[in-house]
Amino acid sequence: MQNFEFYNPTRILFGKGMIARLDDQLSPTARVLVLYGGASAERSGTLAEVRAALGQRTFREFGGIEANPTYETLMKAVALVREEKLDFLLAVGGGSVMDGTKFVAAAVPYEGEPWDILVSKGEAAQKALPLGTVVTLPATGSEMNCLSVISRQSTGDKLLFSNPLVYPRFSVLDPMRTMSLPMKQVINGVVDSFVHVMEQYMTYPVDSMAQDRFSEGLLSSLIEIGPRIIATPEDYDLRSNLMWVATLALNGLIGAGVPEDWTTHMIGHEITAKYHIDHARTLAVVFPALLKVRRAEKRAKLLQYAARVWNLTEGTEDARIDAVIQKTEAFFESLGVPTRLSAYDIGADGITDLVQQLADHDMTALGEKGDVTLDVSRTILQTAA
Ligand code: NZQ
Ligand code: ZN
Repeated sequence: MQNFEFYNPTRILFGKGMIARLDDQLSPTARVLVLYGGASAERSGTLAEVRAALGQRTFREFGGIEANPTYETLMKAVALVREEKLDFLLAVGGGSVMDGTKFVAAAVPYEGEPWDILVSKGEAAQKALPLGTVVTLPATGSEMNCLSVISRQSTGDKLLFSNPLVYPRFSVLDPMRTMSLPMKQVINGVVDSFVHVMEQYMTYPVDSMAQDRFSEGLLSSLIEIGPRIIATPEDYDLRSNLMWVATLALNGLIGAGVPEDWTTHMIGHEITAKYHIDHARTLAVVFPALLKVRRAEKRAKLLQYAARVWNLTEGTEDARIDAVIQKTEAFFESLGVPTRLSAYDIGADGITDLVQQLADHDMTALGEKGDVTLDVSRTILQTAA
């Protein structure tokens, strides 16, 4: 196992009715900004519950944070917080609202141009306002990590930052608040979580027994949840399981002490930046192709995954690897999520542009060993054609 430091200060309040607990998590004198996305939080009644829980506290609201939140919109929230001297940020939404709120938290006290926070990958942030979240879409794990992904309209960039200052103080996970999600978004959550686990698991063995077994448990859970949640969308227990699995998939636990390979996410972010395809859907295209291209480097873990998650133990090693890649692809397709760029009409010219974007963002040495060059990324995209 590799050396690691593990720190996660986020308190989780999980279950039906937990939004009421905002009252004991916030100081009575807090001046709160409630941040949300489009119409869903109002329509589903989540905002009404939040307002009720805030009681007599001073609070303002900031709506309109887009899916793939933009710097341009978030800077308006920064101005509002500064003007009204608000001191606590409460995100009500999915990954986009939570990520956007983290950016606002770091940008408010920042003295220079806040885009520096993204350019420096988070290092430039020295202070941040405290924040909490009320999760309405289980997918990104943003509720219990210190990552944030922000897009900039004027340049077409989509960049990630991380800084321990933006861990949420608490996150409320009420599975009932996910019942209003369109099934497409529920399935996006299954796929995003699946690939989060994979990017901390599908590398090479370092004898990390607990991390591997945790990861395999999360993958098996997602393989079970996917088809069942389509069949019985109102099932509270399935919603609960998806919500907690999505959080555990990217809260640092399974990534402690193991190599990681975030190639799929880095290529996926470029696809979203250029074509505005949902985050999870870009991953379903890239990940199976990555497995095909990197099967030699990932051989031992592919065989372990085949045996422990899909019960594939017969036949030659190569046949088992072929079969498990096919199973993974078929799993995404069975949920109605395409695994080819052609499904989005992205052809050879698109691939050239995407590789150029990777170059522009210094994504030239990805992978668990830093050997995923631009040429390898090109081959992955061509394999996904
Ligand atoms: O805008 P509204 O009307 O709220 O609608 C949203 C949005 O259109 C809707 N929605 C959310 N909760 C709902 C709901 N509709 C009905 N009922 C509800 N309960 O869902 C749509 C998508 O929301 P969004 O927040 O964009 O989705 P997601 O949670 O998948 O977040 C995606 C963003 O997170 C980033 C992605 O790059 C992308 O920008 N990521 C963040 C990560 C992190 N912080 O750790 C890691 C991830 O890998 C990812 O990169
Ligand atoms: Zn993701």
